[in-house]
Amino acid sequence: MASRIGIIGLGTIGKTHWRVIRESPQTTLIAVADPTPSALDFARAENIPAYADYREMLEKETLDGVIVAVPNAEHVPVALACIERGIAILVEKPVADLVEAAHVMCKAAETRDVPLLVGHHRRHNTAIQRVRQAIRDGLIGRPVTATVMYNQLKSASYFDLDWRRQVGGGPILINLIHEIDLIRFMFGEIRSLQAVSSNAVRGFAVEDTAAVLLRFHSGAIGTICVSDTAASPFSWDLASGELDLMFGTSDQRKRQKVSSHVFAGTEGSVTLPTLDYYYYRDVAGPGWRRDLNAEVLVAESADTYLRQIEHFARVIRREEAPLVSGLDGVRTLRATLAVKEAAATGHAIMLSE
Ligand SMILES: NC(=O)c1ccc[n+]([C@@H]2O[C@H](COP(=O)([O-])OP(=O)(O)OC[C@H]3O[C@@H](n4cnc5c(N)ncnc54)[C@H](O)[C@@H]3O)[C@@H](O)[C@H]2O)c1
Repeated sequence: MASRIGIIGLGTIGKTHWRVIRESPQTTLIAVADPTPSALDFARAENIPAYADYREMLEKETLDGVIVAVPNAEHVPVALACIERGIAILVEKPVADLVEAAHVMCKAAETRDVPLLVGHHRRHNTAIQRVRQAIRDGLIGRPVTATVMYNQLKSASYFDLDWRRQVGGGPILINLIHEIDLIRFMFGEIRSLQAVSSNAVRGFAVEDTAAVLLRFHSGAIGTICVSDTAASPFSWDLASGELDLMFGTSDQRKRQKVSSHVFAGTEGSVTLPTLDYYYYRDVAGPGWRRDLNAEVLVAESADTYLRQIEHFARVIRREEAPLVSGLDGVRTLRATLAVKEAAATGHAIMLSE
């Protein structure tokens, strides 16, 4: 039977969840909650019950799961209200605005035995899953470096909203957090990191650009460059096509045919989202003067957000454990906040021994 889902927060990402819940036979959209009149009108025009107060929705509707898609600072109180009622939650990223608050949420979910999935949607992307499997199968040998680019130009109107010009509203907390989660998904836990940031181009209080150096427990090293002011196609959003999905079209032809991620090991390297795979394995005496073999790995084309909601339905039915647990969300948040601290202090930050 389809899981009965409610959405709290019908903004940009809430509407993406709306679309995929309605597309999937595994989920039924029961109701939404959002205080803004435009969101209420949007839902009522589609004959979906809409509430200005999410508590009223939780009281009146029978729900198996709720999508928490409100601003970051509201994730914890909204999530706790669902957990108290035993309702499974998909909490958008970041899991919370503060690590301590995120721990409270995770503890409550554990105590009440309520399933909690964090919305780091990229982990549901088929190309990302293919590359992770390739790394796990040893196709690149021992992981050595991860090179990540998130360089794109956000339009001037994006910054009309005041909070996007203030500390906390920039690419570290909004965009880099996805890269941190992805790099952890690929190479495992981060031991320590260093970072620099700059607001030189836009001149706002918040950074427009940052660079991060990471050391993993395995001994591998990673770099991430993130900027919202660099005119370039070299970012996951422009290269993967997911951004188009986010804004309601599924025109995959709009994606830029470049790589934004390179994962290199002792025996080969793979790229995302292009899935190029380079290796020496079949050549005697591998080395830089030899030709590299080049192949393209294959991943089925699929809507990442649809895959995420269908996974959530299986998590609700307790058929699968959450692919992104509360603890995963906490670790990714902690590392992302450490980037801000490292950039502000100039110190390396140890995340774990
Ligand atoms: N995974 C992704 O791809 C992705 C993309 C964008 C945003 N996000 C995350 O989703 C969350 C929302 O971001 P957004 O860009 O959709 O923001 P948004 O501002 O477009 O939408 C937020 C919505 O929440 C509503 N809201 C605020 N307080 C509420 C409350 N107490 N009860 C009910 N509704 C309330 C607002 O009215 C608004 O409609 C953020 O945590 C963000 O980081 C995730």
